[in-house]
Parts: sequence; structure tokens; C-alpha cells
Amino acid sequence: MQKPILILGACGQIGTELTLELRSKYGADSVVASDIREGSESLMAQGPFELLDATSYEAIEDVIMHYEIEEVYLMAAMLSATAEKFPMRAWNLNMNSLFNVLNLAKEDKIEKIFWPSSIAVFGPNTPKKNTPQSTIMEPSTVYGISKLSGERWCEYYHQKFGVDVRSLRYPGLISWKTMPGGGTTDYAVEIYHQAIASGTYQCFLTKETQLPMMYMEDAIKATISVMESDPKSLTVRSSYNLGSMSFTPSEIADSIRKYIPGFEIDYLSDFRQQIADSWPSSIDDQAARKDWGWHPSFDLEATTKTMLKNLKAKV
Ligand code: SER
Repeated sequence: MQKPILILGACGQIGTELTLELRSKYGADSVVASDIREGSESLMAQGPFELLDATSYEAIEDVIMHYEIEEVYLMAAMLSATAEKFPMRAWNLNMNSLFNVLNLAKEDKIEKIFWPSSIAVFGPNTPKKNTPQSTIMEPSTVYGISKLSGERWCEYYHQKFGVDVRSLRYPGLISWKTMPGGGTTDYAVEIYHQAIASGTYQCFLTKETQLPMMYMEDAIKATISVMESDPKSLTVRSSYNLGSMSFTPSEIADSIRKYIPGFEIDYLSDFRQQIADSWPSSIDDQAARKDWGWHPSFDLEATTKTMLKNLKAKV
């Protein structure tokens, strides 16, 4: 039987789909969803839900004791664009929530943690193409600094205290069930919504800005795979590079035009351009492939087809 799982940040872009998938896999009652705000009705009605602030150690501890939780997925975070506007709030949320779960594991109150990192841990001095697992890491964003620090703390807690924490450096994630909020890669979700709603999109990045991206189903598959892996097979305890596809705004627009021929895009970059320019354009994820058999299924064509089909059905 699956030991009870707690998801912090269950109403966000990743948390929503992770909760749905874990509940269908392990049973709704084995997965406690939590967030600081309420989420979609189906998510809250389908299994246990708690309003919970991930920066409060006591609040998390109470829920863990109540449900006898053994695994925690910490998906609450402030993303790159918002974090530039509220640096201290971002640092407080992104770091304190991580320390809370690391310390609960150190005190043997939980057994296993998933914590997401990001391509944002890399910076302008990192090799951009096929960015290796281990390389120069000098992030130039508040979000990237918090994620890189978090990675170092994860490895530290693993080595010093034997904490079983597992992590992936997600690329930009594309999904249709829940909107992303406050990220730099959000354009790659907004563009599909706008293509259907109005047939036009104004992109806040330039047409040639290439970034690593992934369809949500692949990201959820990777997350559950790394969590189910034999701990002995895991050679990376900071965070695994995770690759899938890379494309530019003009390439995603071309792929949309195959289904919506009149789709128009124009470009007006804002402060997010500088963030995007500091990140890799593609990722070398050999360690994930070798250690736990990572293998993505969705390319840009499959992503566009699935996104447009599901968003059209929604409206
Ligand atoms: N998608 C995130 C962002 O744009 C990166 O992890 O902030």
C-alpha cells in the first residue's frame, strides 16, 4: 500500500496535475493536497485538501502528524518574473518552505521529499547549448539564486543527515489544465490560449529566444519516476538536468499555424527577456536517462496538437 503523500502547492500549474496523477495511481485518500489558497473544485472534492502555508513549520507538522504522511512533494514557489519584483518574499517562500520539509525529514517525521529545481539555476556564463549536469552556475535572477541555494541544501541534508530528497531541474512547462503564474516561460502556455481566443498573440520575448521546454505529462512522468527509483541508482542529490524539446517563439507560432492558419504573432520584449537570455537553450540530461531511465514522449508537434485539442474542448 502507498504510504500517505502530502503535496504542498497542490493548486499550482504542476501541483494540480501531480495531485490528479498521484491520486489515480495510489488512490485519492492516499494523497493529501494542500495550498495557501483554494484550487479547482475537482481537486478539492476528489480527496483530502488542507489550506496550508508552506512557510509555517508547525502547520506542515500538524498535517503530517494528522495524516501520518511519509512523502512530501513541495511544489509551492514564487517563479522567476514575480520574484524579480518581490525578492525578499520570493527568498522567504522558496527557502523557508524547503528548510521546513528538510528539517521534518532530518527529524524522521517524513521519509522522502520531492523538491523541484529549474533551468534558472544556470546563468549567463553557463554554456548555453546542451548545458551539462555540472557546469558554471552563476544565476543572475532572484529565483535562480534561490533554486541553486536550495540544491546545495538538498545535497547537504542528504550527505550529512541521510535525508532522502530528490529533485529535477524542470524546463519551461506547458500545460492546459492550470495556468502558470509569474514565470518567464509562461509565454509558451499563453500563446495557445490566445491563438484560440483571438488568433493573435503579443510575445514578451523576441522571436529567436530559444528555451528548453517540456509538456506537463512528461514532467509528471519524470517526477514520479525519480521518486519511485531505487535510491541506490540515484547519483545526483542536488538536482537532475531534465531535457525534452527546445524551441523559439517563432517556431511555436509555426507549429500553431498548422492548425490555425491565420494565427498572427508579434513581439515586444519586456524585463523577462533578460531573464530568458541568461538561461540555457538546451539541456544535456544523460544522468537522468542513465540513472532512472528518463525518456520524454512529447515533441513540439505533439504538444501543440494536444494543447489545442484540449483547450478548444474546454471553451
Ligand atoms: N518556468 C519557470 C519560470 O519561468 C522556470 O523554472 O520561472
